[in-house]
Amino acid sequence: MTNSIRALLGQEDIPRHWYNILPDLPKPLPPPIDPETKAPVDPRKLEVIFAKELVRQEVSTERYIPIPEEVREAYALYRPTPMMRAVRLEKALGTPARIYYKYEGVSPPGSHKPNTAIAQAYYNMREGVERLTTETGAGQWGSALAFGCNLFGIGATVYMVRASYDQKPYRRVLMQLWGAEVLPSPSDRTAFGRRLLKEDPNNPGSLGIAISEALEDAVTNGAKYTLGSVLNHVLLHQTVIGLEALKQFELFDDYPDVLFGCVGGGSSFSGLMWPFYYEKVKGKAPKPTRFVAIEPTACPTLTKGAYTYDHGDTARMTPLLKMYTLGHEFIPPPIHAGGLRYHGDAPTLCLLQKEGAIESKAYDQVSVFEAAALFAKTEGIIPAPEPSHAIRATIDEALECKRTGEEKTIMFLLCGHGHFDMKAYDDFMAGRLEANDYPEEAVEKSMEKLRRLYPWIETLPY
Ligand SMILES: Cc1ncc(COP(=O)(O)O)c(C=O)c1O
Repeated sequence: MTNSIRALLGQEDIPRHWYNILPDLPKPLPPPIDPETKAPVDPRKLEVIFAKELVRQEVSTERYIPIPEEVREAYALYRPTPMMRAVRLEKALGTPARIYYKYEGVSPPGSHKPNTAIAQAYYNMREGVERLTTETGAGQWGSALAFGCNLFGIGATVYMVRASYDQKPYRRVLMQLWGAEVLPSPSDRTAFGRRLLKEDPNNPGSLGIAISEALEDAVTNGAKYTLGSVLNHVLLHQTVIGLEALKQFELFDDYPDVLFGCVGGGSSFSGLMWPFYYEKVKGKAPKPTRFVAIEPTACPTLTKGAYTYDHGDTARMTPLLKMYTLGHEFIPPPIHAGGLRYHGDAPTLCLLQKEGAIESKAYDQVSVFEAAALFAKTEGIIPAPEPSHAIRATIDEALECKRTGEEKTIMFLLCGHGHFDMKAYDDFMAGRLEANDYPEEAVEKSMEKLRRLYPWIETLPY
């Protein structure tokens, strides 16, 4: 163990390969299903909406996938990202635990999202695509895609969940500065958006709705679509986080007992966890590291959802994916962690939870901001509301260590800064935040609708 509080790597340490978990999953991943035929979807069909190389990566069973040099060069704008030891937080808690965090907020858009946005923009540019469409919740993913598209000279149209669009006008300005077109979702640009606005002009939107709009735009206007989470290739690109963190733990001469990360669709958590998971399955990990996914009580997919097939979007344009879900029609309360308001989760992550390889836990909004405020006061960085969920879990684990006297090594992923979230912090300090507990009735309603829509879902052999 060293006394340093910061482990920095050089540009040459930017990983040369992404790590793909598919060959190392405890069971084969249940395939996406076409609800018309009830059969697995032919991956080639996905080439209508995604770049060919991304579809190849989506189903690839190669353990390591080379990172193109142009992508590594763009990564060098902010990678490798720092890993820190949170000694001031440890002191404030009076814990014998050692707390580390890896900070992805140093990227120009302020989160981990450009790790995949850069790669996706690059492959689309190589295949001659001129415009990409996408959805964004908190605005972090939209900003990242705008940034990536700008680097490689292609257009971007971003459907931004209306609740976030209203809460965070400066995110919109950032995206526009990088050349993207930004629309509040539901919007009047798509047939689906117009239908929803007719039913309810104040619809706050959701990630599921915004995905439907971005897909409709891409399919009807000859653009391609990109997703900032959930799919295998997105999680794959995020593994640069865990691959760097493994090297940084070597510099600290330490190894984690437990890793915490927030989960919206699962890309940041998986990006950190997958390389550590591989160390564990190949028997090289010096400790039996636990992996714990943290989510909001307002949208508790892993802790309260059902493990079944469901659509990834509200308009049912995506195939059915096997995942923990709250039902594709569930609209979570407009909590400040906009990036965690998603009804489903990455199928790989859900399989790992089903097989007991990861754990999950949910926290309410007020307790999350209490943790975020303590972190900001002790470590200086103002965290985004999403990773503040992981900070809450870290603090609780460290306090448990204080009680038991255990000197655990705890790590969490600080996947973004909260510089655009001042409204949330203002609400917190003024006591205006609601806890937003589990909206049981709304979830039951949307799950009932799903069961009525596809009564055969439980009979699928996957
Ligand atoms: C800062 C931040 N963290 C986490 C998330 C959740 O996504 P994921 O679970 O894919 O990392 C988002 C999503 O927008 C985000 O903006």
